[in-house]
Amino acid sequence: MPSATFHFPKGFLWGTATSSHQVEGGNTNNNWYKWEQEGHTAHKSGNGSDWWGGRWKEDFDRAAETGQNAHRLSVEWSRIQPAPDRWDEAALERYRSMLRGLRDRGITPMVTLHHFTDPLWLGELGGWETQAVVPLFEKYARKVVEALKEYCTLWCTINEPNVYALEGYLRGNFPPGKSDLKLGLVVQSNMARAHAAAYRLLHELQPEARVGYALHFRPQESFRSWFPLDRLMRNIKFAGINLAFPSAISTGIMRSPVGRIQVPEVKGTQDFLGLNYYSVDTVAFDLRNPQELFSRSFFPEGIDLADAGMNSNTPEGFFSAIKWAVRTYPSLPIIITENGIEDSTDRIRPRYLAEHVHAMWRAVNFNWPVKGYFHWSLVDNFEWERGWTQRFGLWALDIETQKRTRRSSADLYAAICKENGLSSAMVEKYCPEVFEKLFPG
Ligand code: FCB
Repeated sequence: MPSATFHFPKGFLWGTATSSHQVEGGNTNNNWYKWEQEGHTAHKSGNGSDWWGGRWKEDFDRAAETGQNAHRLSVEWSRIQPAPDRWDEAALERYRSMLRGLRDRGITPMVTLHHFTDPLWLGELGGWETQAVVPLFEKYARKVVEALKEYCTLWCTINEPNVYALEGYLRGNFPPGKSDLKLGLVVQSNMARAHAAAYRLLHELQPEARVGYALHFRPQESFRSWFPLDRLMRNIKFAGINLAFPSAISTGIMRSPVGRIQVPEVKGTQDFLGLNYYSVDTVAFDLRNPQELFSRSFFPEGIDLADAGMNSNTPEGFFSAIKWAVRTYPSLPIIITENGIEDSTDRIRPRYLAEHVHAMWRAVNFNWPVKGYFHWSLVDNFEWERGWTQRFGLWALDIETQKRTRRSSADLYAAICKENGLSSAMVEKYCPEVFEKLFPG
């Protein structure tokens, strides 16, 4: 049996990612709380993973003990600015102690300013649908950066603007549950303007800041490559899902299959690309599915699929996502801001993790500038409209007792973080079923 280790460059960031509403609990002043009360979600977020109650301490201990040297978390706008004319200094102080808690444990923080949730008052003012949001976000960002810059230099302005728009303005899973793709594009353009304003502000307040946003990148494959209509649908979906924000940052014009919007101030506003990668979609033309533009997205039969069927284990797609990023932005640093799989029994996660780390190592070996990897997630947390039905944590969570149970993937990830690499011994121990694939010969 071959014995080898795939090493990563010195200083590589290994961490996990979380978001405020998913882990904190008790967020009652945002649009997701309202959405949950209205019955749009499988469960309610409740106490989350009880970070606001103080359990961030024990979870950061877990991260540190398992060799993680970075953590991505988000701060909750609705806590920090509970009303347009009111700031909650105690909430900011709490975030300061969390970031200090990370620093004390030798963990580099990345702070996300917006991860899907909006203060209720913002919704009343039109949310992200009008440009009025831009100065409001800028004001909020200024307050956060002034309070937290002592502890953080790595910033993610907005998480997955494309998912926010597609789920909230097409599929109806996220608030405001509208069905208006053109408005969804307007929303993304306002997010891009707010991102650009925060980018400039951050550099003004903290010259050493490194600022990006997190793009949900989803490769699309045509079901029958010989069939032009499958290819057409694939191309429309690829552009519609992935390219609005990147086009705005590259050219100052946001482009999508439903239109284009001039956002000149957005051009060039990123110091790194944050890439969230989960799975690949297969796309076929389908006359019976007019609501999806006569197309259908699915996972092909026989694919390595997680229990709830939302995530497939397709590491080739991860490699191609990184390749796309490098081609789009040559020499711009890339940080994998999310990657993971829902798997309550940890049946598939060890091989998902090993195969994705391997794909990333291949990318690094082309000298592509991947600088870090944040696994989603540290501990099970509230999965939006899917409630608690999906378990992404390295640690399992019992939401009644808040007891954490370490999954074996946590051990594998600890070994990867501590080694700064993936070894044949790790694969043999945690996921021998992919040994031949990763270490042929
Ligand atoms: C991403 C979200 C994150 C989490 C994972 C599973 O799209 O950014 O909050 O829900 O999916």
